[in-house]
Amino acid sequence: MPYGPETPAHVAIIGAGNIARRYVEGMGRYPQLRLIGCADVVQPMADALAADAGIRAYTSVDELVADPDVDIVVNITPPTAHAAVTSQALAAGKHVYVEKPIAATVAESKSMLAAAAAHRRTIGSAPDTFLGSAGQTARAAIDRGVIGEPIGATAFVTHSKAETWHPDPTFLFQPGGGPALDLGPYYLTTLVNMLGSVAAVAGFTRVGAPVRPVTAPDRRVDTVEVTTPTHWGATLKFRSGTIGTLLMSFDVWDSHLPKIEVYGTAGTLTVPDPNEFDGDVTLRLHSEDDWRVLEPVIAPSGAAGTPAQYLRGMGVADLAAAIDGAPHRASAALATHVLEVIEAIQVASDSQSVVHIDSTVPRPAPMERAVPS
Ligand SMILES: NC(=O)c1ccc[n+]([C@@H]2O[C@H](COP(=O)([O-])OP(=O)(O)OC[C@H]3O[C@@H](n4cnc5c(N)ncnc54)[C@H](O)[C@@H]3O)[C@@H](O)[C@H]2O)c1
Repeated sequence: MPYGPETPAHVAIIGAGNIARRYVEGMGRYPQLRLIGCADVVQPMADALAADAGIRAYTSVDELVADPDVDIVVNITPPTAHAAVTSQALAAGKHVYVEKPIAATVAESKSMLAAAAAHRRTIGSAPDTFLGSAGQTARAAIDRGVIGEPIGATAFVTHSKAETWHPDPTFLFQPGGGPALDLGPYYLTTLVNMLGSVAAVAGFTRVGAPVRPVTAPDRRVDTVEVTTPTHWGATLKFRSGTIGTLLMSFDVWDSHLPKIEVYGTAGTLTVPDPNEFDGDVTLRLHSEDDWRVLEPVIAPSGAAGTPAQYLRGMGVADLAAAIDGAPHRASAALATHVLEVIEAIQVASDSQSVVHIDSTVPRPAPMERAVPS
């Protein structure tokens, strides 16, 4: 029976950390999802989230995945735990939605995809923000040929200043983290949604400051040792022929750079912060004197920069619909392609060569409420 308000998918969270409450509130907007429990390797974390959300605290991940009442596991552990937790949940017969990056390595991601196929279960993966009004409006504009043929695109990933607000940002500065795996998936997923698969990359990466002070008011650590590159510069060749220029950096604390722009034969499109669902997509044709804001093709969920932008759950609803046969948009295949692009940039830097991308992924279906005109 399809998931719906009368028969919701039962969801349980593994990893009751920083972002978990945004899932609790965000998934609460979808009547086809019912959050029933959570688990964490640190039991007090699970207990606290369960008390706040009015759900069951399992005493272990084993106990959670053994519960036949759980349909979908939402895996919001740190990136280095994504593969093991996802594989365990798949083996127990659960569908899984996993935060970005889908895994710490492409090899891990591919083993997760193989496990999903073997167990006939579906994996969805963050980011889901491209499903929002900004990503869908930009995609529709490209599809309608508003800017003509996309010749080039730029994306600038600048620092989220995590040391100033995350209680323990250590994982962001270790392998599995860094700007490319932490924020890069938002930008690359938005680019692939608009422009299709990436065929080849070149680039360079480096570590910036080797030790970072943590100044978050509720910090659990005072410094972080940096063991993964924090500054990335890359060129992307899309299969379509579009050339992308990508900066991803935790060393760019402040700048006047835009987020994403696409340069076509007839005009330029700007895309707002892909870490948010909504915001103004602007257009300026070569023939025009000024920029104009495009009418959103689907209803925004909230104003840009407001707390609504940071709620999570749209991707879990997308997964629940996909389990029932709808197009899967925030899919593991898409997330794996994005991860492959990121990994290839590192290989390109290490080998000082152009690296070709093996995988291709169809562009996700536009949201059904999208109304190109
Ligand atoms: N913090 C954010 O703003 C944010 C935003 C979007 C996405 N994300 C993503 O969400 C994920 C989690 O981020 P976070 O900031 O909530 O991290 P966090 O460190 O605050 O929380 C992770 C939790 O997972 C638990 N955990 C670790 N390994 C586990 C395991 N094997 N089994 C069960 N529990 C385990 C930890 O004890 C911790 O409570 C990451 O993939 C991150 O990229 C974070």
